[in-house]
Amino acid sequence: MGLKGRVFTFYRFCVIPALFIAGVTVCLSWYRTPDELVSKAAMDDRTLDYFLEKGQIQDRDAVAVKWYHAANSKSKIKEALQSPVHMIEADVLLRGHHPIEPIMAHPPQNDSDVSLEEWLKEVVMSKKGIKLDFKSLQAVAPSMTVLERIRPQLQGPVWINADILPGPGGQAVPLDPLDFLNAVSASVQGEVLSLGWTTGWTLNAENQGYTWEMVQQMHDICKNITHPVTFPVRAALLPSSFPQMNWLLEQSSRYSLTVWTGLHDTLVMEDLLPYRQNISKSRVYYDLSESQIVRLMALPDKSH
Ligand SMILES: *[C@@H]1O[C@H](CO)[C@@H](O)[C@H](O)[C@H]1NC(C)=O
Ligand SMILES: *[C@@H]1O[C@H](CO)[C@@H](O)[C@H](O)[C@H]1NC(C)=O
Ligand SMILES: *[C@@H]1O[C@H](CO)[C@@H](O)[C@H](O)[C@H]1NC(C)=O
Repeated sequence: MGLKGRVFTFYRFCVIPALFIAGVTVCLSWYRTPDELVSKAAMDDRTLDYFLEKGQIQDRDAVAVKWYHAANSKSKIKEALQSPVHMIEADVLLRGHHPIEPIMAHPPQNDSDVSLEEWLKEVVMSKKGIKLDFKSLQAVAPSMTVLERIRPQLQGPVWINADILPGPGGQAVPLDPLDFLNAVSASVQGEVLSLGWTTGWTLNAENQGYTWEMVQQMHDICKNITHPVTFPVRAALLPSSFPQMNWLLEQSSRYSLTVWTGLHDTLVMEDLLPYRQNISKSRVYYDLSESQIVRLMALPDKSH
């Protein structure tokens, strides 16, 4: 065999197959990687696991998680940290005057005795989780900067909440969903996003529940993100919404519900039974008053 022949043989049996295998490998990995990355990065909610590991709840039943609301001042956050709750909820907005920074306050207030940074520094001493509620987009990005800095010291779960879609009876303007997700998602990998609909409820009126369109719109927004997502849902609007909410939860194991109530809403506890009985108890949180939880738990539960 001449030199030409040997070179040809080398090409035919070594270089060409090697290039072919390399090509196929590259194609396969191109084809497979995005999917695998997404499924690996996608995360289920670890909130219950955390409180179970800490021995603060006994079962994988999210009804056991207790809440403190509107811990929007120095004294309130102190009280919340000393109370037996698991999760502390507070509202974040930008102070209305200098220094303009994220503070803990609920509109229409525009000032507070505690900034987000000071508030978070109180929380790092405890094992409790937090839920930060945003009513305005401007507050989100600067808050994420503060949160990112303190996040490594926080022990408990961190939930980031905003209403991002118009819902039943909703009058308030929701935050733009994509702007909100852009502002939070890069900085808070793996945190629980609590994404809701604006709502309203009127006494002695026929209050419509959550529609198919509303839950489909929500899923369209949430299916692309990898964070665990909980949907805050207004208890008094749930009776007629079971098929919709059940469908929504079936779309991803990352999804859960957080049932909350307006202070003056009329609640018929029996109406929540389908949720309690027919959906995994690890997937529905109840941010209700203690007496309401007692009434809920006193109902006959066929699923036991
Ligand atoms: C903040 O609230 C106070 C009292 O409600 C009001 O007088 C003031 O104008 C507000 N400031 C801003 C910048 O909105
Ligand atoms: C989700 O991803 C699809 C396909 O990649 C894209 O068309 C759609 O705009 C995305 N939706 C959101 C809300 O980002
Ligand atoms: C929930 O489960 C109970 C008992 O398993 C069943 O009788 C009922 O029809 C279910 N309700 C809904 C809304 O699926």
